[in-house]
Amino acid sequence: MRIGIPRESRPGETLVAATAKTASQLAALGYDVVVEQGAGVAADQPDAAFADKGIAVGTSDDVWSSDVVVKVNAPADDEVGRLRPGATVISLMAPARSPELVERLAAAGVTGLAMDAVPRISRAQSMDVLSSMANVAGYRAVIEAAHEFGRLFTGQVTAAGKVPPARVFVVGAGVAGLAAIGAAGSLGAIVRAFDVRPEVAEQVESMGAQFVTVDMEQEVSSDGYAKEMTAEQEAATAAMYDEEARAADIVITTALIPGRPAPLLITAETVAAMRPGSVVVDMAAANGGNVAATVKDERVVTANGVTVLGYTDLAGRLAAQTSQLYGTNVVNLLTLLTPGKDGVLTLDMDDVVQRGITVTRDGATMWPPPPVQVSAAPAAAPVEPEPVVEKEPPDPRRRLYAAGLAAVVFLALATLAPPSFLPSLTVFVLAVVIGFYVIGNVHHALHTPLMSVTNAISGIIVVGAILQAPIDNVAVQVIAGVAILLASINVFGGFLVTRRMLNMFQKG
Ligand SMILES: NC(=O)c1ccc[n+]([C@@H]2O[C@H](COP(=O)([O-])OP(=O)(O)OC[C@H]3O[C@@H](n4cnc5c(N)ncnc54)[C@H](O)[C@@H]3O)[C@@H](O)[C@H]2O)c1
Repeated sequence: MRIGIPRESRPGETLVAATAKTASQLAALGYDVVVEQGAGVAADQPDAAFADKGIAVGTSDDVWSSDVVVKVNAPADDEVGRLRPGATVISLMAPARSPELVERLAAAGVTGLAMDAVPRISRAQSMDVLSSMANVAGYRAVIEAAHEFGRLFTGQVTAAGKVPPARVFVVGAGVAGLAAIGAAGSLGAIVRAFDVRPEVAEQVESMGAQFVTVDMEQEVSSDGYAKEMTAEQEAATAAMYDEEARAADIVITTALIPGRPAPLLITAETVAAMRPGSVVVDMAAANGGNVAATVKDERVVTANGVTVLGYTDLAGRLAAQTSQLYGTNVVNLLTLLTPGKDGVLTLDMDDVVQRGITVTRDGATMWPPPPVQVSAAPAAAPVEPEPVVEKEPPDPRRRLYAAGLAAVVFLALATLAPPSFLPSLTVFVLAVVIGFYVIGNVHHALHTPLMSVTNAISGIIVVGAILQAPIDNVAVQVIAGVAILLASINVFGGFLVTRRMLNMFQKG
């Protein structure tokens, strides 16, 4: 079968559905691939790059007469007319919001596969273009904000005075929000974030940002998506949004519940109260916006000097990167659809991923697909309610007794043990107490350097135990043996974990 990659017809579009690298991966699945002349120029993929990989570069007719046409944006009306009956078209389609497109594809007798309908389940993550695009867009939102913001993101102490770090507030910690948190944090800003789904707090904190909490009932979602807020929740969050936005230099909003208009979260009064020079990037602009002052695709400067960006092409502003990710998502999808690696596309309607993306099949309308249950939190197993047992409040004197007991044991050992043992015992007890408080309070972000330190300590323990082992005393030998075993587990375990982490960054 032949796959055609057309030039995108939407005005200003920079993306292309295949790069030279992904086109050759499609060819390796057994397909003939033809790319329209100039299709990849705006994404740093000139025709010569495709030709160098042995990919044919052809005319628009060559591409549109192919068995499978892969593009980024949904085919326009005239493009649907150019598909031959029985052909397959793969692209973003927003089928829930485009019933006319679904009808047109069915009437043309083609099979339509929507890249943006890939269910958000673990197995399909490698084909999830919305996540790829939201990830790049979240990063770019921070770059756009940094470009508009007239100050540094990172705090500095210079000879000319102190520079405070920028304060960034991110609303919605889905794919785009987490990417924005990561990018802003890496530029040195202080980042705070809020999401209605409380289960994302850990992810936010693991990226070094602070999760803002609100005093209200928040339910862990069962499907990874937020529910619409109740009136009480809206009232409780409104004050928080106002307070956080006023305190922030940069606000990045990404809040969205799929299939609904974006909720309005930052009011005109809040924007009017923000400091001059502050920047708001409303990533939900395409769906109506989370911010009152947003104008879709525009840069607006309010009367009080706040810049509000409503760009909807953030992913396209990093065209080479987004095209590469989009192209890889396409390759992963076509690998699934080409089980024989023989260049023949086959659709299995019993597979939830393939069924989920099939909008039309040989002229029949297949949209909407049966719902797929994706689970972010394991569904709670029904449990018999246990009788409520009133717990005794912890006795504050317990700690005191424990400390007293430890002091008595220490004194008894100090009195009975030989004097040469006393300095070692003192060092041991102090090390236990200090170690408990220091290591217990280390932030997650510093766990990797902490592991290196514990590896170094384990190395010292191994050396010490080897020196003690020859002493002619069974108890000492046993303790030395146990010390060598436990410390070695830590050293070699550390190497194995480090190796696994490094493998994650290895190409191919
Ligand atoms: N501007 C662009 O160029 C561009 C590009 C890609 C994506 N986007 C947009 O970015 C947004 C986010 O995309 P995503 O893939 O990260 O979606 P996502 O579903 O992964 O994340 C959205 C998050 O918003 C949260 N949320 C919903 N309602 C909320 C509320 N009232 N308050 C706080 N949080 C709330 C959800 O819990 C979820 O975590 C979407 O609007 C998407 O269309 C824009």
